[in-house]
Amino acid sequence: MAADLAVIAFPYVPGETLPVKELSGKIVLDTNNYMAWRDGNYPEVDSGLKTVHELRQENLPGAKLAKAFTHIQHHARSPVRVPGDALPGLFRLARPAGAPDRMALVVSSDYPDAVELVRGLYDDLGFDTVDNSPLSESWRSAPGTPMWEHSVDGQSREELIANLQRAVSPARVE
Ligand SMILES: NC(=O)c1ccc[n+]([C@@H]2O[C@H](COP(=O)([O-])OP(=O)(O)OC[C@H]3O[C@@H](n4cnc5c(N)ncnc54)[C@H](OP(=O)(O)O)[C@@H]3O)[C@@H](O)[C@H]2O)c1
Repeated sequence: MAADLAVIAFPYVPGETLPVKELSGKIVLDTNNYMAWRDGNYPEVDSGLKTVHELRQENLPGAKLAKAFTHIQHHARSPVRVPGDALPGLFRLARPAGAPDRMALVVSSDYPDAVELVRGLYDDLGFDTVDNSPLSESWRSAPGTPMWEHSVDGQSREELIANLQRAVSPARVE
């Protein structure tokens, strides 16, 4: 495979068949969110033993997985309140570097070079970065966590850091 990076934009499934050889040595962006209502329940994830992204990393030995672009909508805002809401969140929330209302997106990876690649992509697209590595910490940005509540209208770097810290581990949820 000639590309430097690949994107997996579909849900994790145990035992999934991925192109392990072709992706070995590549940075792989995983946009998936674990949504039990959609994907079913995975005991390792529900118990807090592993994140769904660690499970996918295990399915891709040799690749450098990064959880990225998981809390920015690829579609229009719902409901549409003003005409700009019809834009995908990725464009609607983008701002130039240094803008006072610039939003931040999170990345998690076990590989610093994968984090830096995502940081560059986010910056080019109009977002600051919060590094929530390694992948074992990526539960903090899962659906239902405090940061998730702000994913539609975005959050600053400082707000995102605070919201990630407020998350309660799935293992501690009764
Ligand atoms: N939509 C968003 O705004 C958003 C934001 C952040 C993150 N995400 C995450 O990004 C992923 C994609 O979201 P989406 O809204 O685009 O979902 P979607 O509309 O359900 O599209 C998923 C696509 O992936 C394909 N697919 C499923 N399993 C595959 C496999 N094993 N190999 C190759 N292709 C496969 C599906 O094909 P078939 O229809 O033929 O099965 C479908 O075309 C999800 O994991 C979601 O959690 C979405």
